[in-house]
Amino acid sequence: MSNVEQTLSIIKPDAVERNLVDKIQKKFKDEKLIIVKTKKIQISKEEASEFYKVHQTKPFFDRLCSYLSSGPIVVMILEGKNAITENRRIMGATDPKNAENGSLRKLYGISIDKNSVHGSDSPDNAKKEINFFFKD
Ligand code: CMP
Repeated sequence: MSNVEQTLSIIKPDAVERNLVDKIQKKFKDEKLIIVKTKKIQISKEEASEFYKVHQTKPFFDRLCSYLSSGPIVVMILEGKNAITENRRIMGATDPKNAENGSLRKLYGISIDKNSVHGSDSPDNAKKEINFFFKD
């Protein structure tokens, strides 16, 4: 059974700043995910707080929102078979120290905060996160 899904991916400020956008997008394409839409934007801290509101009770919440709004990001809709799980595999573990060899966070992540990429973690969140950045 084919399970074609869409998921949201963000290339975070640390990776945009280091000119890693093309390399990261190539990795998604090499892994058979289609980039359906992409745009480079910068969001406010308020918008970042809305985006990450599931984490609002976490001790790292303020730091996380300051960081995501600190510079340009690239947001993308990725599509493909099991795209949500596939994207999480391609990204690797949240903390680059624990990420699998060859994963984006292992290759490019600097720290748990500056971990280069974000991806939706479930079908429900994928819908919400896609709608957050691509309302039309
Ligand atoms: P991301 O997948 O974007 O989702 C939330 C982010 O919070 C996560 O990546 C990390 O960059 C950041 N973060 C900072 N500290 C932690 C932590 N202790 N556990 C999980 N995520 C953290």
